[in-house]
Amino acid sequence: MDGSGDIQAGQPLLEVEAATIQYESEAAVVVAIHQVSFSVRKGERFVILGRSGCGKSTLLKAIGGYLTPVEGRITLHGKPIGSAGPDRMVVWQDPDQLLPWKTVRQNVVYPLTLTGVSKAEANERADAFIAMVDLTRAADQYPHQLSGGMKMRVAVARGLAMKPAVLLMDEPFAALDALTRHRMQDELLRLQAETGATVVFVTHDIAEACKLATRILVLSPHPGQVKANLDVGRFASREALADAVGSLIHDAGARA
Ligand SMILES: Nc1ncnc2c1ncn2[C@@H]1O[C@H](COP(=O)(O)OP(=O)(O)O)[C@@H](O)[C@H]1O
Ligand SMILES: [Mg+2]
Repeated sequence: MDGSGDIQAGQPLLEVEAATIQYESEAAVVVAIHQVSFSVRKGERFVILGRSGCGKSTLLKAIGGYLTPVEGRITLHGKPIGSAGPDRMVVWQDPDQLLPWKTVRQNVVYPLTLTGVSKAEANERADAFIAMVDLTRAADQYPHQLSGGMKMRVAVARGLAMKPAVLLMDEPFAALDALTRHRMQDELLRLQAETGATVVFVTHDIAEACKLATRILVLSPHPGQVKANLDVGRFASREALADAVGSLIHDAGARA
């Protein structure tokens, strides 16, 4: 069974309800996210877009179970999210998120075996997902032998191979050169179509958001609040969408 349970395409899978998330130290309290609400449906490519510092990573970490909201709640399949878990795999921005002493195949196999998948099935599934990201020839190589783009494809394969309820991606392509970035965006669209995965993708890049999203949540900064929640399908063209998003982001920045 995959982590998405019996929820059908189009029904809410992940719900964030009036979540406020803050960082507390002895010196200060920083409210990073203030009363943010949205829901993500199965099979969506849900993009959280906003300027640097507006709380995107904070929100993604809370969905991942690495941070807990001080107010509001986050539910998956109607149940409050607890700690981090294999139903919410994360692809981080850092190319060095792979285990350096494990090969490509071992990196993909490892989390599968940790969650009780048999060795035979883990190997089979890993090979299928490694093939899907076109890395079969590199399966026995170590991370230090790979380019940044290849490492990111391993991280995506590792995440998808777990068949998580939702794949969380935090600016995964931001550190790549422009050509590789565009190729990875195309690849993600293809992989998501092939697997039907539900993806929550964080970016500060308007063009990337417009290219990848079925829905865009625009955040305004300090503290992060919902500026708009846009159904991409309602726009006549990508250009119209990019114009609308551009003015929302500009507006959000100007008010900060
Ligand atoms: N560990 C932390 N301790 C204190 N403040 C933090 C911490 N992490 C992030 N912040 C602050 O929370 C706000 C949101 O940060 P973040 O979620 O990383 O934004 P983004 O991912 O949109 O760039 C920023 O003002 C940032 O300085
Ligand atoms: Mg961030």
